[in-house]
Amino acid sequence: MAMLEVKNLNVYYGLIHAIRDVSFEVEQGEVVALIGANGAGKTTTLHTVTGLLPAKSGQVIFEGNDITKKPGHEIVRLGMSHVPEGRRVFAELSVYENLKMGAYTRPKAEIAESLAGVYKRFPRLEERKNQFAGTLSGGEQQMLAMGRALMSRPKILLLDEPSMGLSPLFVSEIFKIIEEVSAAGTTVLLVEQNAKKALSIADRAYVLETGKVVKSGEAKLLLDDDSIKQAYLGE
Ligand SMILES: Nc1ncnc2c1ncn2[C@@H]1O[C@H](COP(=O)(O)OP(=O)(O)OP(=O)(O)O)[C@@H](O)[C@H]1O
Ligand SMILES: [Mg+2]
Repeated sequence: MAMLEVKNLNVYYGLIHAIRDVSFEVEQGEVVALIGANGAGKTTTLHTVTGLLPAKSGQVIFEGNDITKKPGHEIVRLGMSHVPEGRRVFAELSVYENLKMGAYTRPKAEIAESLAGVYKRFPRLEERKNQFAGTLSGGEQQMLAMGRALMSRPKILLLDEPSMGLSPLFVSEIFKIIEEVSAAGTTVLLVEQNAKKALSIADRAYVLETGKVVKSGEAKLLLDDDSIKQAYLGE
C-alpha cells in the first residue's frame, strides 16, 4: 500500500475544471515530483491533498485512511506538512516564533528537540533566530518555511516550488536539503517548474498539463525522454 494515494481527483474553481481525473501515488521513503508549466494545476493538487481545497470527486488516501473530506489542521496531525508556494512566512514574527508556530500540533515537551533538529539542518536559521522573518532573503525564507513544516515532524513533506525566485546557488542548497530530509526518513512530494532539478533528485515523477497527468515514470527515464526534454528541460 502506498503512503499517499490520489485517485481520480477532480477539482473545480466555479465552472473551471482545474484538476481532471488526476491519480498518483507516493510510496513511503520516496521522493516523487509533480512537474508542469504555469497553470498546470500543481498548486491546486497540493491544496486539495492537504485539505485546503475541496475535491468535487475522487479520493485522497493517506496511510490507508480516506482524508478527502478532512480539514487541513487534522491532516497536519496525521503527519502531512505543506510548504506553500511563495513561502508564506509570518513577516512580523521572528524566525524562532515562526518555527514554534509549525509545532502547534505537537506536545510541548517535544518542541525543544524539534527546534534543535531544525537548527542543525539550517544553521542560518539559528544565526538569525531573533530576526523578523520578513527581513530574511528569499532563500532564507524558503529555509524557514521548510523548517517550520519540519517542526511538526511530518511523515510526508509536500513542497510547492521551493526553488522559485532563488539564485542558482540557493536552489542547489535547497535541493541538497530536500535530499537530506529524504535520507533522514521523510517521504517527499515535490512540486516544481524546475523540472531538471526536480527530476535529478526524485525517484519518480508525474507530468501535469492543463489539469491532467500526461506522463509518469522513473525520474531518470523522464530526464532522457525527448518530449520532456523539449517541453520542460529546454534541450
Ligand atoms: N482561486 C482560483 N480561482 C479560479 N481559478 C483558479 C484559482 N486558483 C487557480 N486557478 C486556475 O486553476 C489552474 C491551475 O492553477 P494552479 O495554481 O494549480 O497551477 P500551478 O501548476 O500551480 O501553476 P504555477 O506553476 O504558476 O504555480 C489555472 O488555470 C489557474 O488559473
Ligand atoms: Mg503553483
